[in-house]
Amino acid sequence: MMKDLAMHIMDIVQNSISAGATLIKVTIFESVKEDTLKLTIADNGKGIPAEILEKVTDPYVTSRTTRKVGLGLPLLKQHADSTGGNLTIDSKEGSGTTVIATFGLTHFDRQPLGDIAGTMVLLAGANLKIRFVYEHTTEAGEYRFDTDEVNEMLEGMSISEASVMRFLKEMINENLKEIKISG
Ligand SMILES: Nc1ncnc2c1ncn2[C@@H]1O[C@H](COP(=O)(O)OP(=O)(O)OP(=O)(O)O)[C@@H](O)[C@H]1O
Ligand SMILES: [Mg+2]
Repeated sequence: MMKDLAMHIMDIVQNSISAGATLIKVTIFESVKEDTLKLTIADNGKGIPAEILEKVTDPYVTSRTTRKVGLGLPLLKQHADSTGGNLTIDSKEGSGTTVIATFGLTHFDRQPLGDIAGTMVLLAGANLKIRFVYEHTTEAGEYRFDTDEVNEMLEGMSISEASVMRFLKEMINENLKEIKISG
């Protein structure tokens, strides 16, 4: 089963949470002109040890069934590669990790964005101590969701409240509609 981009985000952000990140930034940049979709997930967590970083980016190791590393990053890499794109990981022990997946925007194997609004709200509501920033840019405009700003707006109400989560998901989706160029 091919994951949509929201499912990949859920997976990769779990890595950032496990790494103790207090700031997680998800960025999507879509360009019709360049026919690319670029997904970036950046965190300030503990970083990926060099010996693991070597494995998750090595296609031979990741295709082996005996490997001991997980599936989150290899699956994202496989998906990006299959659309004519690629995956790069920049990580420094002690200061953070940036994962960049590039996809062919209109490539047949590029899965849809999926429920990114729901995913971001779920992540924010379940991890109240982490600041999440989600930026989405297309040639039609730009949208930014920042839990620090949201918390100020909520004046003491919690992102984890069901009614707040419903409201935020709707708010994000309304804003994404304005800049929508692809599925
Ligand atoms: N943002 C990150 N910060 C620190 N370490 C990371 C980060 N992302 C990945 N890693 C390290 O790389 C390993 C591989 O990540 P990957 O998501 O591919 O698999 P996993 O998380 O171990 O398992 P799965 O995602 O299949 O449950 C992780 O176990 C972790 O050690
Ligand atoms: Mg993982």
